[in-house]
Amino acid sequence: MDDTLTIDSLVAQSPLSKPTDLDEVLIGLTDSPKRISPKFFYDERGSELFTQITQLPEYYLTRSELEILESRRAAIASSVKGTECLIEYGSGSSYKVRLLLNAIQPELYVPVDISREYLQKAAKKISDAYPDLSVLPIGADYTKPFDLPDEAKGKQCTAFFPGSTIGNFEREEACRFLQSISETVGSGGKLILGVDSRNHPAILNAAYNDSKGITAEFNLNILRHLNKVLDTNFVLEQFNHVARYNEDLGRIEMYLQSNIQQSVQIGENEISFAEAELLHTENSYKYNLPDLMKVAKAANMTLKEVWTDASKLFQVVLLEVN
Ligand code: AVI
Repeated sequence: MDDTLTIDSLVAQSPLSKPTDLDEVLIGLTDSPKRISPKFFYDERGSELFTQITQLPEYYLTRSELEILESRRAAIASSVKGTECLIEYGSGSSYKVRLLLNAIQPELYVPVDISREYLQKAAKKISDAYPDLSVLPIGADYTKPFDLPDEAKGKQCTAFFPGSTIGNFEREEACRFLQSISETVGSGGKLILGVDSRNHPAILNAAYNDSKGITAEFNLNILRHLNKVLDTNFVLEQFNHVARYNEDLGRIEMYLQSNIQQSVQIGENEISFAEAELLHTENSYKYNLPDLMKVAKAANMTLKEVWTDASKLFQVVLLEVN
């Protein structure tokens, strides 16, 4: 009998309940190579550490994207002229969108984020700052299909997905995600997408191996988070941060490497790590133009514009649904 643990087999065993975080982590830790989903980075401390990362000198992504949004906002707005509804995927603090709202002047702004409490607060601030704008927040996992509010139906929609978060999706997942955006905004609808480039390996390796060790702390925090929520007993000092650019696949791969031979308790299970064994925690894909055209095509979209920063490290691109 095949007793491989998969999400599907767990769901089949228990048709009424979804797999829990414990099931999901267990599946990853019994896989080869071992892995933990990057979604477990983001507890409160993980989100704080990520904010610190965005301010590091080596992590150029956020700075470069803001530079583009600021310096090219008029061109971006004119390329999405006629937009009535702006939908932001993973809106967080709604900070970056402020750079576009004045220039685009939509009637509706629909921020979508999984963290409902944070979303409501951010939506209120936007609403206060833009009294003529209807702000209709949606608390949802934006990677899954969700319904637009009735007010947005039939309107000319533009989606906004900044931050190169698309890079944390596998290439096929990125295609599926863009397909779902394409269905949401409909024919003629547009997507303003922030995406990191296939830069020189030295630049990329430095961005994910900063000298202050904040990215290392962020990576290790995934274990601290699991210890808290799943009662695992990872000893953080016994793992090292590893991040390296895989040029062939155009992605930064992030791992935690076990310093010693050790075992960790998770639920009823004991997971063994060999000395120097790698535990995969994140991929961050980088996109060149052919990569972008490929995902756009798979999502029934066309790449219309590419805006870059002065150092040409990051891109904000415009995709249009065919
Ligand atoms: C959220 N995401 C776009 C970041 C990235 O660059 O892939 C996450 C990150 N991981 C390490 N540093 C930043």
